Order: sequence, then C-alpha cells, then structure tokens
Amino acid sequence: MKGPCVLAWLLSSLGLCRLAHPETQGATQCQRAEHPVISYKEIGPWLREFRAKNAILRFVTKDAVEWECDEATKKACYSKGKSKEECQNYIRVLLVGGDRLFTCGTNAFTPVCTNRSLSNLTEIHDQISGMARCPYSPQHNSTALLTAGGELYAATAMDFPGRDPAIYRSLGILPPLRTAQYNSKWLNEPNFVSSYDIGNFTYFFFRENAVEHDCGKTVFSRAARVCKNDIGGRFLLEDTWTTFMKARLNCSRPGEVPFYYNELQSTFFLPELDLIYGIFTTNVNSIAASAVCVFNLSAISQAFTGPFKYQENSRSAWLPYPNPNPNFQCGTVDQGVYVNLTERNLQDAQKFILMHEVVQPVTTVPSFMEDNSRFSHVAVDVVQGRDALVHIIYLATGRSSALLWGVVYHLLTLCFKF
Ligand SMILES: *[C@@H]1O[C@H](CO)[C@@H](O)[C@H](O)[C@H]1NC(C)=O
Ligand SMILES: *[C@@H]1O[C@H](CO)[C@@H](O)[C@H](O)[C@H]1NC(C)=O
Ligand SMILES: *[C@@H]1O[C@H](CO)[C@@H](O)[C@H](O)[C@H]1NC(C)=O
Ligand SMILES: *[C@@H]1O[C@H](CO)[C@@H](O)[C@H](O)[C@H]1NC(C)=O
Ligand SMILES: *[C@@H]1O[C@H](CO)[C@@H](O)[C@H](O)[C@H]1NC(C)=O
Ligand SMILES: *[C@@H]1O[C@H](CO)[C@@H](O)[C@H](O)[C@H]1NC(C)=O
Ligand SMILES: *[C@@H]1O[C@H](CO)[C@@H](O)[C@H](O)[C@H]1NC(C)=O
Repeated sequence: MKGPCVLAWLLSSLGLCRLAHPETQGATQCQRAEHPVISYKEIGPWLREFRAKNAILRFVTKDAVEWECDEATKKACYSKGKSKEECQNYIRVLLVGGDRLFTCGTNAFTPVCTNRSLSNLTEIHDQISGMARCPYSPQHNSTALLTAGGELYAATAMDFPGRDPAIYRSLGILPPLRTAQYNSKWLNEPNFVSSYDIGNFTYFFFRENAVEHDCGKTVFSRAARVCKNDIGGRFLLEDTWTTFMKARLNCSRPGEVPFYYNELQSTFFLPELDLIYGIFTTNVNSIAASAVCVFNLSAISQAFTGPFKYQENSRSAWLPYPNPNPNFQCGTVDQGVYVNLTERNLQDAQKFILMHEVVQPVTTVPSFMEDNSRFSHVAVDVVQGRDALVHIIYLATGRSSALLWGVVYHLLTLCFKF
C-alpha cells in the first residue's frame, strides 16, 4: 500500500501542520528566501505512525479490512526462494471508479485484483488475476489508473523476475494493448512513477536507463503518452500500441556544465493549470541532491509534435529525424470501426518512439534545489493569496523501505507565486 497510503498519510498530516502554523504560510512569505522546514519530530504529535500489509485501511471511518494471502500461495512463494517478508500481500493498486474500489495486491508473488463496494470493502464482486496490472514483487515501482470508460492502464513489471516491464491496457471494452516486449527502445529498466488521464491521452511519468546515452549507464526521466482510442496494429504491432511516444524531461541547475537531477521520484498534477510538479534527484550512487521542476503540459505536448530521435542500427548514432506526422491527432474510433492505419503508419509507429526535443521546465532554474537531501514525495496546494494564487509545495523525504510503509521524517513547505 506504499504509494497511495504514504501520500494519503502525508496529505492528512499536512492538513494538520497547516493548522498548526497558520501564519507562516501567508502569501507575503513567498518572497522570503528561506522556507519553513518542519521536522518529523515537530509534527510528531499529529502523526500516527503505522506499518501495514495484508489489509486495506480506510482513514476517515478507520475501517480495516484484512486481505491476506492463503497458506498455499505463501508456501508456493517460499518454494520460489522468497522470504517471509516478501511473501505477503502488498497493495499496489488502489483506484476508485464510481461506487467501486478496484485494488490489486502482490499476493505473495501471485498478484490478484478485486473489485469491491466502496460502501462495504468486505464485499468483493470480482476477483481477477493481477498479472500485468500489479507487480509480483513489493520492490517494483508501478502506477495505474482507471478511465471513465472503465479501462485500466497499468505500468508495471509483467513477470515474476521483473524483466518484462510494460504499459498495459486491459478491462473495459477496448482491446488489451501493451508496449513492445523486450525492446529497450520502448522501455529500458523503467521505474514507473505516475500516470494521468488527460484529454485524448494517458500520460506516464517514469525514469529509465537512457538508450540514447551511449557512454556509461545513465538514468533519464521521461513523459510518455498513448492515445486512449488506440486499438493496436494489424500484422505489424498487433496487440501493441501504435501511438506510444516518450520525451526526456530536463531538470537541471544551469551553468557552463549543467548539473542534472536526472531521476524523477514523484509528481503532482494540477489539472486546472495543466502543470506537472516533479521531484527529481541525483542517482543513489552519487552525491545526494534534489530539485523541484515544474512542467507545462503544453510544453510536453509540443515535444511530441517535433522531430524524433532515431537510431538506424545499434552501431549508428542517434540523430534527429523529421516527424512524419507533425499534426498528429488520436485516430477516430467510430462505433468500433477504426480508420485503418496504413502499413507505412505502422512502420513509423514501430520505429519512432523517442522525441528529439527535451522538455524544459517553466523556469530555467529549478523552482527549488537542496543538496544533501533526497526528497521522495511532492504535493501542491493552490491557495488564494492577497493578490495572487500561491502554490504551496510540500516535500517529504521518506524512508520508504520497499517492504514497509514509508516514514516521513522531514517535511518542508515552500510557496511560489505564478
Ligand atoms: C467493477 O464492478 C463494476 C460493477 O459491476 C463493473 O462495472 C466494473 O467494470 C468492474 N470493474 C473492474 C475493473 O472489474
Ligand atoms: C459487508 O459485506 C459482507 C460480505 O458480503 C457482509 O458479510 C457484511 O454484512 C456487510 N456489512 C455491512 C455493514 O453491510
Ligand atoms: C523503486 O523506487 C524507489 C524510490 O526511488 C527505489 O529506492 C527502489 O530501488 C525502486 N525499486 C526498484 C526495484 O528499482
Ligand atoms: C537542460 O537545462 C539546462 C538549464 O537550462 C540547459 O543548460 C541544458 O542545455 C538543458 N539540457 C538539455 C538536454 O536540454
Ligand atoms: C503553459 O503554457 C500555456 C500555453 O503555452 C501558457 O498559456 C501558460 O501561461 C503556461 N503556464 C505557465 C505557468 O508557464
Ligand atoms: C481528441 O481527438 C479528436 C479526434 O482526433 C479531436 O477531434 C479532438 O479535438 C481531440 N480532443 C482534444 C482535447 O484534443
Ligand atoms: C481496414 O482494413 C481491413 C483489411 O485490409 C479491411 O477489411 C477493412 O474494410 C478496412 N476498414 C476500413 C474502415 O477501411
């Protein structure tokens, strides 16, 4: 339950700490260079620390519904060499659709999903396989969303060892589709961070090993998208996205040699302003540093209309390649009849995945930078200040041991005016 629950917990604790420090966050404070930092100790009295697995908890009504794996599943998990700690049910998908709660757990490396009544979490309507919807391992980072049409988009490892990552659509009425399998140009050891349903597209945010970077292993952060009405190819790209594209996100400190915060950890989307806040860090093996960069959705969309970055074969260089379809629009699915993609369209869709343009944040200098910190979560609140809307950014560092819930021990608030 790590992701959603840490955030829920974070948000509820933030509410409390705002009540506790009402004056420190007024609009006038935005001009101040230093920002209020609230230590874990200070908010301690308002925090309830807990660790949980094998259960779904509801905060408001304090419901706790057990959801454990059965003994046979656990035994099978041990026999595959997994530990007692790993062979539990870690809830990784928790989505509300209408009056239903759709939730998936790792279930001792045998992922399973249930559809429950929101009004009574014990009442399970359907139980389906969690494969391709939820990771097997509690260590793997994944994200999922449900559309209004009832399709589930999940970005997760699809297999037991975690070597087959994919962005996969299932349920609903549209055919299941995925990213091309074992193709590092599509996804290269990704860590999925977040996903959003925006207009005709679903967007995915993640970090992955950069295929286009040929000297040494480097991680880059990406925004990717697919059309929600994609129905896959015929003969070519069968059961596979024909509209998958991705672009690099740049979050760096400018300079003669820019200092890059390459690794996206968390995002927060403000739909009314079309802004995506991201927390980026350096690699775990280098000096610790974090930054907040803000991306305009229109800048991301614009990158997708530009040229692609293309590599003819594994020995050739990555070069810009003009976009064959710069006025790209999602196709029209008309009562199940799809306007056929030509063979040429499909070849292009298979060939061109990565955009040449790098998406730049709204400000050249990141909105916030801090050395010696690794922030793991970001949340943003827009409040009416005296003369403008003020964005209050909450950052948290979290010890999120993959097997236990994260512990927020350092909370920092900033505010920005736009
Ligand atoms: C959950 O149940 C509802 C009502 O039966 C159904 O419409 C919906 O498709 C189900 N969702 C999933 C993801 O199974
Ligand atoms: C919730 O659903 C369970 C299982 O169907 C049932 O046993 C229980 O009585 C229900 N609880 C309430 C409060 O309706
Ligand atoms: C998942 O993300 C966390 C936080 O960035 C990281 O510590 C962890 O190593 C990631 N898991 C895997 C399997 O890479
Ligand atoms: C990233 O942004 C920095 C700072 O504005 C800039 O110097 C650098 O060229 C950019 N890098 C890429 C790859 O766009
Ligand atoms: C985002 O882009 C749109 C369209 O280019 C622009 O109108 C808007 O001002 C931008 N927002 C910010 C915060 O830069
Ligand atoms: C979505 O796609 C349709 C069909 O291509 C297009 O007419 C419509 O303008 C698009 N909507 C948005 C919000 O871009
Ligand atoms: C799409 O292509 C198939 C096979 O070539 C053909 O049978 C079908 O009529 C085409 N559909 C449309 C809408 O053009």
